[in-house]
Amino acid sequence: MCGIVGYIGKANAKEIIVEGLRRLEYRGYDSAGIALYRNGKIETRKHVGELKNLEKIIADPEYDSYMGIGHTRWATHGVPSDINAHPHSNSDNTITVVHNGIIENFLELRRMLEEEHNVVFRSDTDTEVIAHLISLYYDGDLHEAVNKAVAKMRGAYAIAVICASEPDKIIGVRKDAPLVAGIGEGCNFLASDIPAFLRYVRRVIFLENNETVVVTREKITIYDENNEQVEREPYHVDWDVDAAEKGGYPFFMMKEIHEQPKALADTLKRRLDENGDIVLDGISLAREDIDRLSRIYIVACGTAYHAGLVGKYVIEKMTRIPVEVDVASEFRYRDPYVDENTLFIAISQSGETQDTLAALREAKGKGARILSVVNVVGSSVARESDDVFYTWAGPEIAVASTKAYVTQLMCMYMIGLYMGRLKGTLAEADYHDTIRELLAVPDKLAAFLEDDTQIKNLAKRFYRRNEMFYIGRGLDSTVAYEGSLKMKEISYINTFAIAAGELKHGTIALVEEGTLFITLATQDKLFEKMLSNIEEIRARGAYVVAVAKEGNREIETKADEVIYIPSCPDDLTPLLSVVPLQLFAYHVADARKNNIDKPRNLAKSVTVE
Ligand code: G6P
Repeated sequence: MCGIVGYIGKANAKEIIVEGLRRLEYRGYDSAGIALYRNGKIETRKHVGELKNLEKIIADPEYDSYMGIGHTRWATHGVPSDINAHPHSNSDNTITVVHNGIIENFLELRRMLEEEHNVVFRSDTDTEVIAHLISLYYDGDLHEAVNKAVAKMRGAYAIAVICASEPDKIIGVRKDAPLVAGIGEGCNFLASDIPAFLRYVRRVIFLENNETVVVTREKITIYDENNEQVEREPYHVDWDVDAAEKGGYPFFMMKEIHEQPKALADTLKRRLDENGDIVLDGISLAREDIDRLSRIYIVACGTAYHAGLVGKYVIEKMTRIPVEVDVASEFRYRDPYVDENTLFIAISQSGETQDTLAALREAKGKGARILSVVNVVGSSVARESDDVFYTWAGPEIAVASTKAYVTQLMCMYMIGLYMGRLKGTLAEADYHDTIRELLAVPDKLAAFLEDDTQIKNLAKRFYRRNEMFYIGRGLDSTVAYEGSLKMKEISYINTFAIAAGELKHGTIALVEEGTLFITLATQDKLFEKMLSNIEEIRARGAYVVAVAKEGNREIETKADEVIYIPSCPDDLTPLLSVVPLQLFAYHVADARKNNIDKPRNLAKSVTVE
């Protein structure tokens, strides 16, 4: 995710800002930049790639100031490049902006600026729109111009702005993206994240949504959305930098589990217009393209493959086009039947997985149309695809994937809904009902995440086990696979997942007194069948932990323990039911004192065959 750092004081702003950017590196980024006020002008330098690339081009001692802003970018609009890196400025470089998040109506604003005000844009970013918009309203008062610009902007963002004619201040705005000010002695800071300035200050002021902050050398003044001044007590930070990077969580994986509601909301809401219509930026699938399709392959590895399994259920159901899912390392070598009427969907968090890339090339070579679902903008999979559907999960640092997986699921639903509606295989009412239910998921998930005591206690009881079984039917079976993989990856326990109906064809021979079964029973239409499966294994001595929908109390008569997830339609349960399994794996691994973020033998991105 992008990072913002701003400093105004007496010391060497360049060094302080670069140090702040370094502290934000853990969040992941693809380019970095800095803008300093010097001799009546704003001078911006930026570079794609690692921070050291930027450091090389700002090394000259003359490039220095007492104030400036810096940024590490995680691309969302426009590929990672020098030009798209932040900061961005207005045409005469007198107003300069750094920005986290997304401006949803940027195209509309860009068109207005181009057509009505002859603005010439230099980058592909939504951020540049902000600089030009503030410039349009600027009439000697930066604060007023920022307020006017913000009133036109839709989306979730945090920004920091400087102006050559008012070099005594940095202005920040927070709307659904974090921004925090740091209080120093004769200097002040602004950043997207506390670690950026924790080396220098411990007293911070958290901004609330829709607040604007004016940061000068002497003071920090906050304004609410009605431009009324707000008084706020500073907060004293007593954590160390390491804990701050993880947002106070002991491991990135837990932080990322808790980021899931936001990641889901970002992936969905930013692509819905006011009528609830899905607007697929960067994808040009028209009705005739969809009508032509005779089959769809979804190909991926690991967790992304499990997202593909959900995709099969959902996309096939909504579009009535046959969907096959395959692991990439198998697909590429089995001479699959692919022609120009094939849609090939690659799913990859990193966009760099060698097997996925090779499978994509195989399908492309045979004439398939390639649509990828990728988290990293500008990655190899994204670049080699005809269309890209980005998951907006932000950088995922823990090796075990969590937030990328749920956003991949969200993309599967959105692709299914979009194509099914266009093709006419999905009724309008079903489309709108599903959108409404999807919109409700982030809040339900946030509520579920408030208390994990039950799961923690379960982990304390079972962390010494050598084996665990995961079962489910229908969509629940796909979540069983993912829950089982999570447990394997970080706890090193031998887990096995199987479709519950298949159990009796062999695997049930393994069940003995006390064998632990994690049993998903969230599908109303398969509930009775699941109850029979639970009886089957309990009769042979299994200990059954069930995951079921809230209100479905009947399960308590069959299972030994039940974890309830918030209620939602059958088709959407994977978005919620995977989360207790992620938490269970996490707490088991924690009890076993494993390095949760970097499990043995695994890599975040496997770029070799
Ligand atoms: C590696 C990781 C897995 C991941 C898989 C696919 O094996 O350890 O966690 O699911 O790659 O990665 P991708 O970046 O393509 O989603």
